[in-house]
Order: sequence, then structure tokens, then C-alpha cells
Amino acid sequence: MATDHLEQKAFWIFLFWSLCFSLTSAFLAPTFPSSAYRPQRRLADSVQNTGLYRTEFYTQILDHFDFNPQSYRTFQQRYLINDTYWGGASNKAPIFVYTGNEGDIEWFTQNTGFMFETAPHFKALLVFIEHRFYGNSTPFEGDREVLFGNSSNVGYLSSTQALADYATLIIDLKKNLSATDSPVIVFGGSYGGMLAAWFRMKYPHIALGALASSAPILQFEDLVSPYSFNDIVTQDFRSESENCYKVIKGSWEEIQEAGQKPGGLEMLGKSFRICKNLSSSDALTGWLRGAWIFTAMTDYPTPSNFISPLPAYPVKKMCEAIDNAGSGKDTFAKLYAAANIFYNYSGTVTCFDLEDNSDPHGLAGWQWQACTEMIMPQGASGEDGIFPVNEWNYEDRVAYCSATYGVEPRPHWITTEFGGPGIERVLKRSGGNIIFFNGLRDPWSGGGVLKSISRSLVAIVAKQGAHHVDLRLSDKEDPQWLKDVRKQEVDIISSWISQYYQDLAL
Ligand SMILES: *[C@@H]1O[C@H](CO)[C@@H](O)[C@H](O)[C@H]1NC(C)=O
Ligand SMILES: *[C@@H]1O[C@H](CO)[C@@H](O)[C@H](O)[C@H]1NC(C)=O
Ligand SMILES: *[C@@H]1O[C@H](CO)[C@@H](O)[C@H](O)[C@H]1NC(C)=O
Ligand SMILES: *[C@@H]1O[C@H](CO)[C@@H](O)[C@H](O)[C@H]1NC(C)=O
Ligand SMILES: *[C@@H]1O[C@H](CO)[C@@H](O)[C@H](O)[C@H]1NC(C)=O
Repeated sequence: MATDHLEQKAFWIFLFWSLCFSLTSAFLAPTFPSSAYRPQRRLADSVQNTGLYRTEFYTQILDHFDFNPQSYRTFQQRYLINDTYWGGASNKAPIFVYTGNEGDIEWFTQNTGFMFETAPHFKALLVFIEHRFYGNSTPFEGDREVLFGNSSNVGYLSSTQALADYATLIIDLKKNLSATDSPVIVFGGSYGGMLAAWFRMKYPHIALGALASSAPILQFEDLVSPYSFNDIVTQDFRSESENCYKVIKGSWEEIQEAGQKPGGLEMLGKSFRICKNLSSSDALTGWLRGAWIFTAMTDYPTPSNFISPLPAYPVKKMCEAIDNAGSGKDTFAKLYAAANIFYNYSGTVTCFDLEDNSDPHGLAGWQWQACTEMIMPQGASGEDGIFPVNEWNYEDRVAYCSATYGVEPRPHWITTEFGGPGIERVLKRSGGNIIFFNGLRDPWSGGGVLKSISRSLVAIVAKQGAHHVDLRLSDKEDPQWLKDVRKQEVDIISSWISQYYQDLAL
């Protein structure tokens, strides 16, 4: 019964998400990956026995910031470890730690081939730590209803608690390995990249440096435009073909009009091969939006399977599908052909289930974070936008969050805790050893650090890059710019480590 309730709730969240979009109010944080997309394949099937790591659990403290008796409760935090290439404690060989983000850590580990490929060069120990409340690192016996249905429990889910988890775990692991002098470099992509950067700022005594890939640490308050995300999606499609952009841009009204005609919803359902009868056209527009956004994020130069299996340059492929559909084809046939690339590249889907609320990557906790501290203003603006105008409206978020969790967001907490305004000035004097990578085709790059701040606070910007593409496993088809980015990152990390050994010898 508990799961029924949760499913209903998840469905309601999805409905809200699509509804918000069409009602020109703020759509709920289109999260990094969000629970509102439907992966084609359950990752769990493919992760077992990858032979990439060993799984360990660490008894973690529930609340690091309070000494009330209930704060001493513990939970089992999962981490993955690979010591194949480690040079060992006696050589003070480095430890590379991935600061897990909002999902199953195995999923991120398998999409962070960069760490595995550079480990032999650095003789590094690899550790991937799961973020509390995600994947298998769930307090309260992992019962999802108890976990997410009760704010008194999910209240222990926050970025500051997660960073403190990483700190205690790393210190304890180093102690166990007698590796106190091994330098630690933290890595992360997306929200995990934000955590990596913040970890270096807050815990410089634990991490020597951070590679923060596609980390929108400035997507808060009014530090950047709330419209940059959708503007970049627009630009991605437009850069491939003006016609493709126009077809998508013009489709929203066409879908809505069609949905209002008698038999219209049935016709739409047929055109897009939706499994069940559509109850409104909003579910369909939310589903299409997801396809365009997540494909823009993962517009990688080689075939990939991060959010969904995709060909190389998937935005280009989508636009080719739209442009080459044939003049006889209507808009819906064109959109179907393009959406099919995101939702059915494997060719195994018989019909599209818009009501599928499965959460194979364990992402559910993000809704809570988006209702408390992760207030990252977003909307769609302007005549040229590929999406209908949809002003950012903080009040909508507040209403959603109080209805769902009975809490009000704290929109200024992240900048209070980690900074943001005047970041160049502040970090220049207080920080060091962070690489900020951003690919400008990634919609999240608008909230990233795009200019180097000092010699050791380096922004690497790749015009053709997508969401943390640098962290992915290399491919023989990788373009030269991507090889260059990775080489630059390796060189910078090497320089931090040699500096560290010099300092240690003094
Ligand atoms: C570590 O990763 C490599 C692949 O890069 C793999 O060959 C090796 O078996 C892994 N080691 C462990 C202990 O899992
Ligand atoms: C929520 O959790 C708290 C603490 O675990 C518990 O005391 C309370 O009874 C729970 N509330 C509901 C409605 O289950
Ligand atoms: C360190 O060793 C202790 C004792 O075996 C163990 O309980 C703890 O989980 C270990 N720490 C980590 C991070 O694995
Ligand atoms: C779906 O719509 C068709 C045509 O309107 C109708 O015959 C059928 O009963 C509907 N199915 C469901 C499950 O509502
Ligand atoms: C998915 O792709 C396969 C192979 O191209 C196709 O036969 C099938 O109809 C597609 N599914 C949907 C729902 O369109």
C-alpha cells in the first residue's frame, strides 16, 4: 500500500511538472537528470558484475551538525573502490574520490571512465562515494515512504550533510589504509561537480584539488540569467538546422490545438505511439520537452548511454529526422521521428508509457533538494525560444513545496554557505586548485564558471562540449578538442600533486 501511495505521489509530481510547463508557471527544477524522464533500460540489469570495483559500506552519522541524541543515529553509506592501479600508502600515491550526485553511484561511476583511464598514470586509488538518500545509501531502513514521505526524515538530506559524509568517510578510509599522506583529488560532474568544487573550498585540508565538471554553482539567486538553460537548448537545435528549430518551436501550439478537438487526444496518442489514452496534451508536451532537453545535455560526439542510449551527435540526428521526414509528413510525424531517437534508439520499445514512474537510477530525493536549498531559477523567455515563454516564478515553487512537503525553500542558503556573488574576487584570494570544465552546448553551462580566476582556478571551456563530456570514457572517435581537454586536465592535476610532494618534503 505504501508503494501505491508513493507511485501516486510520483505521478502527481510528474503531472505537476508537465502542467506547470503549460500553465506558464515555473516548471519544477528540470533537474540534472530528473525523475521525470523515462530511461529505456534499467541500469540495474547491466551494472552487476562489471568487474570495475568492489562495493563497501560505511557506517555514517545521520546528522553531523547537531549533538542531539537522535542525531547520533547512523545509516549505511555505500562506496565503490578500485585499488588495481594504486601505488600504495608507502608511496603516498594519490586517492581519486568521486563525490556522488543525486542518484545511484554505480550509474555515475560507469559514466566516469576518465578516472579509470587516468588511474594508471597517477597510480591512483579510485573511490566513488554515494550521496546520502540516493541509490543504496538510504537511512531509515531504506523504506521509501518513510524516507521521502516524511519531512522529519528526508530533512537530513542536504548538500552540507553530504559534504560532511565525504569528509568523514575519506578520513576514515585513509586511516584504515595508513594512507594519511596520500593526496586526495575530488571529481564530480553536474551536481556532483558542484559538490567537488564546494568540497575543495570547505575542506581544503582533506582534498588537494577538484575537477568540477559541468558544475552550475552560479545558477542561484540572480547570479546568472534564469533563461540561459533554455536559451542554450534553443541554440543547440538552431545550430543544426533552422527548419528543425522552427518545427519544434511551432509544435507546442499545434499540439495544444489538436488536443482540444474532438478525437484529438486519440489522434495524438496514435501519432506518437503512446501506450495509454492521453488524458491531456500536457503529458505529451512534457514528454517531448524531456526528449529535447536531455538530448541537448548529452549531445556527445560518440555513441553513449548516460540518460538514454543515443547515437553520436544526437541533436544533429534529431534534426535530420525532422528535416528528412519528407514534405508529405505532418509536424507530429516529424516530432515522433525525432523523439524516437531519445526514447527508442535501442529499437526495443513497443509503445511509449508516459505514466511510467519507475526510478531506476534512484533519483527521487532531488525533489526534496529542489524544495529546500537547490533553488536554481529557470524559465523560458523571448520570442526566439524553442519553448513557449514561461517566466521564472519563485512563488510557484513555494506553493509546490509547501503542498508536497510542508516546507518553504531557503533560496539564499546555498550562496550563504558556499558563496557566489563576486566569485572571481573571493576565490582568487581564498581558493585554489579547482578545474571548472564546461561545454557550451550543455544547457547547464550558463550557470558555470567560464573564466579562469587564477593560475590554479582554471576554467576550461569547450565550445562543442556537452554535459561533463570530459569525464566520459575515451573513444577512438573522440574529436581532437576533447582529447586536448582531457590532456589539459591531467597536466593540471599532475602539477597539483607534484607541488604537494614538494611541500611535503620541505
Ligand atoms: C579496476 O578497474 C579496471 C578497469 O579500468 C579493471 O580492469 C579492474 O579489474 C578493476 N579492479 C577492481 C579491483 O575492481
Ligand atoms: C515522521 O518521522 C518522525 C521521526 O522519524 C516520526 O516521529 C513521526 O511520527 C513521523 N510522522 C509520520 C506522519 O509518519
Ligand atoms: C575502517 O575500518 C573499520 C574497522 O574495520 C570499519 O568499521 C570502517 O567501516 C572502515 N572505514 C571505511 C571507510 O571503510
Ligand atoms: C481509449 O480511447 C478509445 C477511443 O476513444 C476508447 O474506445 C477506449 O475505451 C479508451 N481506453 C481507455 C482505457 O480509456
Ligand atoms: C521502436 O523502434 C523499433 C525499431 O525501429 C520500431 O519497430 C518500433 O515501432 C519503435 N517503437 C515505437 C513505440 O515507435
